[in-house]
Amino acid sequence: MSHLNPTTQKIYHASVNACLAPLVSVDGKHVITVEGIGNVKRPHPAQERVAKGNGSQCGFCTPGIVMSLYALLRNSEGKDLTEEEVEEAFDGNLCRCTGYKPILDAARTFVGETNKKTLKGCGRAGGCCMEEKMSEPAAGGCCKSDGPKTGGGCCMESKPKTSSGCCMGNGEKPAGGCCMDKLKVDGDRDIKKFTPPGFIEYNHDTELIFPPALKKHEFRPLMFGNKRKKWFRPVTLDQLLEIKAAYPDAKVIGGSTETQIEIKFKALQYPVSVYVGDIAELRQYKFHDSHLEIGANISLTDLEHICLDAVKHYGEAKSQVFKAIYKQLKYFAGRQIRNVGTPAGNLVTASPISDLN
Ligand code: FES
Repeated sequence: MSHLNPTTQKIYHASVNACLAPLVSVDGKHVITVEGIGNVKRPHPAQERVAKGNGSQCGFCTPGIVMSLYALLRNSEGKDLTEEEVEEAFDGNLCRCTGYKPILDAARTFVGETNKKTLKGCGRAGGCCMEEKMSEPAAGGCCKSDGPKTGGGCCMESKPKTSSGCCMGNGEKPAGGCCMDKLKVDGDRDIKKFTPPGFIEYNHDTELIFPPALKKHEFRPLMFGNKRKKWFRPVTLDQLLEIKAAYPDAKVIGGSTETQIEIKFKALQYPVSVYVGDIAELRQYKFHDSHLEIGANISLTDLEHICLDAVKHYGEAKSQVFKAIYKQLKYFAGRQIRNVGTPAGNLVTASPISDLN
């Protein structure tokens, strides 16, 4: 679920559990599902690598695995992924039958290469003429415009062709070996762990854009439902207080990670629910001289980043508590829960098995 995060004012691609997220929480957000990123004929690199890396057996967990990886890739634009980040991205995913090694191995093929724009596969002198850096096409013109491919084929294609066609297609190995063997990442490092049969290049520039209309989306108070069940979505603290005054028993819902469990497994009923995740006032933070002020409803993922920023802001000597919270959050639930769960929700829930406090 991609959205303009009111805490950071940046687009954040949040992996979330669809079974827990209330419908009201997706207003103004860009919802991307595993069906939306690719299909069998044209898979997204995350889908292709999990499949080719034997990261899927029964496939029950695979959509979640793929979307966790997808969210990680989207959020890492402009920086190289580390192995730790890849492992952490799956801390909310369970797999019964494949085992985690093939899944992690497939995901690790993205380590160090998400910031890479093009493959250096066509072997044109001077590099690829499709790269923005190059002002002029290489000698002989660009292989994308003149039709015939030269040398090792066009590096912009996911399956580069040799002059006699791709050896993956006709089974022959042309002189000089298979062009798929020539795939290199920047810095001429070989792709880690797997090499053949070659993967679709991951390129941030070809990802779905965040819909411009949603950048300007105006969050307004919402109410819907029927006699049996009502939902409110206030967007200011005053509106929330008014609703609570009118419906004192209304259930206040932030990430909904506990409430949905209560509804589904404990059969609790909440005739009036108030979704408070879109109240921007409750999702701010501020560094004061003597303390850090945190909005009750910032996401736990944002709290992780705020703790790291606080260490920088207040200095190592004064930051033991921030480091401790950060460390605790690392082992707290999974990324999908931390993306929507909040400090206030956790305090109010007072769960004996997941008490952040
Ligand atoms: Fe069966 Fe993961 S592939 S649960």
